[in-house]
Amino acid sequence: MSNFSQLETKFVHAGRKSRYTQGSVNPVVQRASSLVFDSVAQKKNATRNRYKGELFYGRRGTLTHFALQDAMCELEGGTGCYLYPCGAAAVTNSILAFVAQGDHVLMTGAAYEPTQDFCNVILKNIGVSTTYYDPLIGEGIQALIQPNTKVLFLESPSSLTMEVPDIPTLVRVAREVNPDIVIMIDNTWAGGVLFPALEFGIDISIQAGTKYLVGHSDVMIGTAVSNARCWDQLRERSYLMGQMVDADSAYTTARGLRTLGIRLREHQERSIQVAQWLAQRPEVKAVFHPVLPSCPGHEFFKRDFKGASGLFSFELNQKLNDKQLAHFLDHFELFTMAYSWGGFESLILANQPEEITRIRSAIERKLNGTLIRIHVGLEAVEDLIADLEKGFERLK
Ligand SMILES: Cc1ncc(COP(=O)(O)O)c(C=O)c1O
Repeated sequence: MSNFSQLETKFVHAGRKSRYTQGSVNPVVQRASSLVFDSVAQKKNATRNRYKGELFYGRRGTLTHFALQDAMCELEGGTGCYLYPCGAAAVTNSILAFVAQGDHVLMTGAAYEPTQDFCNVILKNIGVSTTYYDPLIGEGIQALIQPNTKVLFLESPSSLTMEVPDIPTLVRVAREVNPDIVIMIDNTWAGGVLFPALEFGIDISIQAGTKYLVGHSDVMIGTAVSNARCWDQLRERSYLMGQMVDADSAYTTARGLRTLGIRLREHQERSIQVAQWLAQRPEVKAVFHPVLPSCPGHEFFKRDFKGASGLFSFELNQKLNDKQLAHFLDHFELFTMAYSWGGFESLILANQPEEITRIRSAIERKLNGTLIRIHVGLEAVEDLIADLEKGFERLK
C-alpha cells in the first residue's frame, strides 16, 4: 500500500519541458484554432508531423495540450494520450475506435452506468453486440469470447459495488484466445497511477480526468493513454470523431497532476479510517472498500494495486424507505450529495438494492440493504466520522 512513492517526482515534473513552459513553471495556455505558418516549408513540416508534436491546427492540440499528453504518458507508461471533453467521451470514443458493424464487445457487468447505456443504445444501433460479464468471472471469461469479439472492457474497482477483478487472469485468457483483442480499462478510481494498467498488458487506460486528475470538481476532461500497438488507430479515429478539449481545461488538469500524489495518499488514509469505523457500526452490513477483506476481490486489490483512493460504498443492514433515506441524506453537514467525485470534498449518495440489480444484469450477487456510496475528501477524519455518526442517529 502507498507504494507509489517512485512516482512522486514524476507528478511534479512530468510534461514540464521548456518548449511548453517558456520560462514559467507551468505550461503556457496556448488558446488557438488557427496556428500560423511562416513559410510553405514550415506548413509542409507541420502537416507531415501533425501528430508528432508539431503545431498544425487547433484540433490537433497546442503546446498546453502537448504538455498534458506528455505528462500522462510519463505517468501511465504510454506511447500516446488522447484528450477528450469528458470521461464519458474518452470511454465511448476508445471503444468506437476499434469496432465496426458485426463486432462484439465484452463489457464488465458492473461498469459505470452510462458506459453500459452507450453499449445498449449506440453500439446496438451500429450493429455491435455486447455481452456483460461478472467482474469476478476470472477464467470463465474464455467461454464468452466470440470470434468477432474485438474489445474486452474492464473497470476496476467496479462502479458502486466495488468488486476488484482478477485482471492478470482476464488479460491472459483473452490474449490466449485472441492475441489481437483490444483490452481497455476505465481506470478512473486509481487516478491511472495506483493501478499501472499498461504494465498488466492492457492496451488503453481511460480516465474521467474530471475526478482525481483535476481534483477540484471544476473541470471536465477525459484521457486515454495507449500503448504503441493501439495508439495510431485510437488517435486517428478519435480525431475523426472531432474529439478535443479546450486549452484552459488541459492547463488546469496538468496543474492538478502536481498534487495528485499527495492528494491520493490523503484520500487513501482518510477513506481507510472511515471505512474501518463504518465496519464496526451496527447499522452497516458490509463495507466495500478494496482495502478491507469484506470487498469482493480484495485479494486481487492487495496483489495488483499500489494504493487506494477515496471512493467506496457500504450496505446498510436494512432497506431505507423514502422518508428514512431523505432524513438520513438531507442533513449531513460535510458530506454533500453529487454524482461526480474525486475532488477535495466529501460526498454521499444512495442506491436502493433494486436499482443495483437493474444496472448489474450479469451479476447474481444481490444486495438487500440500501447501498451508500461515499467519497472521502480531505476534511479531518474526526469531523467526517462525527457527521456520519449523526446520520446514523437520525435513523433511530
Ligand atoms: C468510473 C467513471 N467513469 C467515467 C465517468 C464519466 O466521466 P465524466 O463525468 O467526466 O464524463 C464517471 C463519472 O462519474 C465515472 O465515475
